[in-house]
This record gives sequence, structure tokens and C-alpha cells, in this order.
Amino acid sequence: MNTTPGIPRQTRRQFLRAAGLTAGAVLVPRRSAWAKSTGQFQDSVSGSASLRAHAEARGMLVGCAVDPQLLASNHAYNTLVADQCSILVAENAMKWGPLSPAPGKYDFREADALMDFAEKNGQKVRGHNLIWHDALPAWFPGPITKANARQAMVEHIQTEMRHFAGRIHSWDVVNEGIEPKDGRPDGLRKTPWLALAGDDYIELAYRTAREADPKALLTYNDYGIEYPDQEKKRAAVLALVQRMKADGVPLDAVGVQSHLDGDVPPPGRKLQNFVRELAKLDLQVFVTELDVNDGKIPGTIRDRDAAVAKVYRDYLTMMLAEPNVKAVLTWGITDGHSWLNDWEHIKRADGKPLRPLPFGPNMQPTAVFYAERDAIDSSHAT
Ligand code: XIL
Repeated sequence: MNTTPGIPRQTRRQFLRAAGLTAGAVLVPRRSAWAKSTGQFQDSVSGSASLRAHAEARGMLVGCAVDPQLLASNHAYNTLVADQCSILVAENAMKWGPLSPAPGKYDFREADALMDFAEKNGQKVRGHNLIWHDALPAWFPGPITKANARQAMVEHIQTEMRHFAGRIHSWDVVNEGIEPKDGRPDGLRKTPWLALAGDDYIELAYRTAREADPKALLTYNDYGIEYPDQEKKRAAVLALVQRMKADGVPLDAVGVQSHLDGDVPPPGRKLQNFVRELAKLDLQVFVTELDVNDGKIPGTIRDRDAAVAKVYRDYLTMMLAEPNVKAVLTWGITDGHSWLNDWEHIKRADGKPLRPLPFGPNMQPTAVFYAERDAIDSSHAT
């Protein structure tokens, strides 16, 4: 496997092959559909050299968040996603807001298209997400009151989970339910769900979820638990999942979102210990939304990619050394389609777009791809 950080080294023969310049006597490997569609010489990163193939060899899953509209309209993008990913998650299409145009109404067309795409390509799908304080329907709370909120929450979980029952790898049942800054002793975030459905809304959500689709792994997903200075958040998440386990609330995994900053010292042993505490509770861990914000990293594109690649390499090598870390998903796959480039407040001083993901805006692999693949090779998931 290539272990050189930065630009991959190809042998002369690989180069000639990729360029289609070898003589008839040499077997030319068949190019992947993606390589053909982009017209690029991608044999060194596609097919058996893809993230997907490397992850399969280690018994783990790799993938990214996707936009079903882009899958339908952009052939180069959808062949890249098919080639590189063994698991997909909807960036927005399975959130309640995008799904529900009116109380009790659901429009599953985009989410269904994603599911069909994944099944056609032999990929698993994560469900993201059921209960969150964000991406609520425009009509929310509308008819929902304290008197009927528990029933409304149960119905939402049942409707969405039953629609996809048996086809989802893992559901983020509650997303971002902890916020120590909100000042509650139990660390729970003050959300509309907490206010409407009561202090045990998380327990109700997971018990409902297990019944609605017993085949799906049930995940608690959160951000900000990755950094050394996030002691309080980590402790509160750990306390939550310990309480859940002690009370017999069904829970199978914790999602560590992993929106990392390129200019902040990397997460260290404290995160590793947290992952080990989760292992003691028999919980899997998924890196669910990895990207690295290079907004404050100066220099050329090459410098920036090298810095982002280092963060990927260090972070994933540390995480994947833990046997209960079973999946890595990036939040998007190409720099041209990253949510980070949509925010005014994280624009770079030089005005250039961010490069937080393994493929560049032209869908070419960057140093980040090689760092991610090397880290996958070091996984202890099996
Ligand atoms: C983000 C999407 O990427 C954006 O397109 C959308 O505008 C807002 O939500 N944590 C999560 C994800 O759990 O659902 C968020 O996704 C990113 C942060």
C-alpha cells in the first residue's frame, strides 16, 4: 500500500498502464466506471485500490454523506461514490424537516432514491437522523403541544423507521442531545423535544426505535467530544449512555461526528479513553461526519492538503486502533460539495474555498485520500 504522505508514487509500469501506453503483451487492468467517466487515470485509487476495498479488507465500513439530487444529476460524482463507499448517509434527505412538508405528511422520494442507489451498489445506509433540535419541519411545533408531544415523537420515529425497516445499518435516533453549557445537572441540551416531551424523551425515543426496526443498530450521535478541552461534553455523553445501559434502554453505538479544525491541536488520549469506556459498555463507535476545516491554514493548496492529511492520518490512526471503531464516514466526499464552503463566517482570509475532504473539487484524490486509506489499512476493526 502507498504509505507516502502527499502525492502517490506510481511505478513506471503503473503509470504507463494507467495512460494506456503498455504493449499488447501486458495486461491492462480494466478501469473503473468512475475512472472512465472522469476521463482521468485513476486506477491507483479506484476499484481494488479504493477506500471501499481497503476497508472491506479490514472488516470495517467507509463512506460519506451524500446528496440524492447530486447522485441523480452528476455522473462523475455518483460513480465516485459507488467506487469509494461501502456505506452512505443522507446529508439532509432523511431529516424530519426535509421529509415532512405538513403535519403527518412525508415525502420519501429523495430518501428512497438514495436507498435504491445504495442497494444497487451493494452499500449500507446510515439513517440520519430522527430526533434533533435542528432541521425541524417548517410547520413545527404547529399542532404539537405538551399534551401530545410524546405521541408525535413516537409516530415520527415509527413512520420513518418502518418506511425503511430492515434496510438501515444504523439510525442516529437522537442527534446532539447533550450540551453541558445549558447548565442542567444531567447535561441534556435544552431542546424543543425536552421541553415538550419531558426529561425522559431520549429513553422513549430509543425504546420506540428498537421496536420500529429491530434490525437497525441504534446510535447516539454528537459533536465536540473529540477535543482534549471538551472534558465536560465527553463526560456528559458517557454519563448519558451509562444511564441508558443501566436502565436497559436499547443502544448499540455512539457516533463521534468529528468535524475537526486543522489549526487546533489534535484530540488525544482523552478521546481514546472515552472510546475504551464505550467498549466496556459493549458499544460500537462510528466516526460519522469527518471533515477538517482548513480555514486558518496558510499556504498553497499543497501545503493545506498536507496539513489536512496529517490531521486525518493522526486522528483516524488513533481511532481505528480501537477495535470497537467500525466505520468512518466523511461529511461529503469532494471539496466541491462540502457544507463548510456554505458558511460565510468560516471563509478563508484569502477567499479560497476550503479543502476538508479526500477528493478535490475536480474529484481528483488529494493527499487527504492517501492519509485516510493508510489509516484504514491500520484498522483493528477485525
Ligand atoms: C448539515 C448539512 O451538511 C447542511 O447541508 C445543512 O444545511 C445543515 O446540516 N451535524 C449534523 C449534520 O449532525 O446533520 C449537519 O449537516 C452538520 C453538523
